[in-house]
Amino acid sequence: MNDGKIAIVTGANSGVGLHTTIGLAKAGLDVVMACRNLDKANTARDTVRRAVPDARVDLMELDLSDLTSVRSFAAAFREKRAHLNVLVNNAGVLDYSRRRNGAGVELQLATNHLGHFLLTSLLIDLMPDEAESRVVSLSSIAHKQGTIAFDDINCERQQNKTFAYAQSKLACLMFADELNRRLKSAGRKVVSTCVHPGGTDSGLFDDASRLEYFVFKLVAPFITHSNADAAKPSLHAALSTDVRGGDYFGPQGFKDLKGPVGHAKRTAYSQDAQVAARLWQVSEELVGEAFADLSKSGLEQRA
Ligand SMILES: NC(=O)c1ccc[n+]([C@@H]2O[C@H](COP(=O)([O-])OP(=O)(O)OC[C@H]3O[C@@H](n4cnc5c(N)ncnc54)[C@H](OP(=O)(O)O)[C@@H]3O)[C@@H](O)[C@H]2O)c1
Repeated sequence: MNDGKIAIVTGANSGVGLHTTIGLAKAGLDVVMACRNLDKANTARDTVRRAVPDARVDLMELDLSDLTSVRSFAAAFREKRAHLNVLVNNAGVLDYSRRRNGAGVELQLATNHLGHFLLTSLLIDLMPDEAESRVVSLSSIAHKQGTIAFDDINCERQQNKTFAYAQSKLACLMFADELNRRLKSAGRKVVSTCVHPGGTDSGLFDDASRLEYFVFKLVAPFITHSNADAAKPSLHAALSTDVRGGDYFGPQGFKDLKGPVGHAKRTAYSQDAQVAARLWQVSEELVGEAFADLSKSGLEQRA
C-alpha cells in the first residue's frame, strides 16, 4: 500500500526516531534517516534491518542546528528523490548548558524548531497534494511550561534552566498549527500534525546532572514507556487515515506519559493563532528567508 512512498525521519539514529523509522519501514515506506552522526546512523540502520529485513533505508547527513547543513541536506535530497510523502521532524536536544549554535541562537530553539522550520520550507513542495502527505512535528508535555519569549528569544534572562527547552517544544507545536492553517488557506491537502511521545528513557537526558540522571533512572520504570511505544503517536500521525490537520496526539495513560495514542492535552497559550503567526515571522527572520509559497507544488515542474 505504501510502495513508492518516501519518508524522512530526522534524528533517526536513536530513541523515538529509530523506532519511528522501524515502524515506517515495516509499513513499506522507503525511509531516509536524516542524522548528524553517520557512524551512529550506520549502527542504527543495522538495527532497522534486523527488525525489518526488507527495509529500504538510506542515510543522509543533517545537522539541524546549522542552517547551512539544512540547506545542503535539502539540496541533496532533491537531487536524489523526486517526491516526499512523510516528513517526521523528530530530532531534538535538551540542553541545560545554555549553548548557542554557530549563528548565536539558543541551541534548542535552533535545533528543535528553526532547523525543522527551514527543512520543511525547503521540501514541502515535493509533497503530493493529498491527505496522505504528512508533516509530523514532535512536541512535548514540557510545552506546558513554555511561552514564546519574543523579547528574550535566546532565554538569556531566564533563571529556569528548563524554560528554553519548553519554549522550543512549544514552538514545534505552534509551528505545526500555523503550517496547517497556511496549508488550508492555500487550498493544499497536505496535513500538518503534531505529537508528543510521553516519557521514554532515551539519549535526550544525557545532559542532565548525575543526580538528576540517577533520580530519573530510579523513577523511569514507573513513568516511562519503551522507545517503541513512544514512537506510536508519530506513526499514528504519519500513517493513519484518521488524522486531520492540526491534530495533536500523545499517550493517554498515567499523567499522559505512557499508554495508548489519543488526542493530547495542550495549553490555551499553545492555541493562540496570533502568537503562532508572530513566531512564524520571527522564525523567517532568524532563518533569513521567507517560508516557501505553499500555493505552489513543485511536483508538476519536476514531472
Ligand atoms: N524522551 C522523552 O521522554 C521525550 C519527551 C517529550 C518529547 N520528546 C521529543 O522526542 C524527540 C525524540 O527524542 P528522543 O527521546 O528519542 O531523544 P534521543 O534519543 O536523544 O534522540 C534525539 C535525536 O535527535 C538527534 N539530534 C540532536 N541534535 C541534532 C542536530 N543538531 N541535528 C540533527 N539531529 C540531532 C540526535 O542525534 P545524536 O544521536 O547525534 O545526538 C538523536 O538522533 C525529540 O524531539 C524530543 O524533544 C522526548
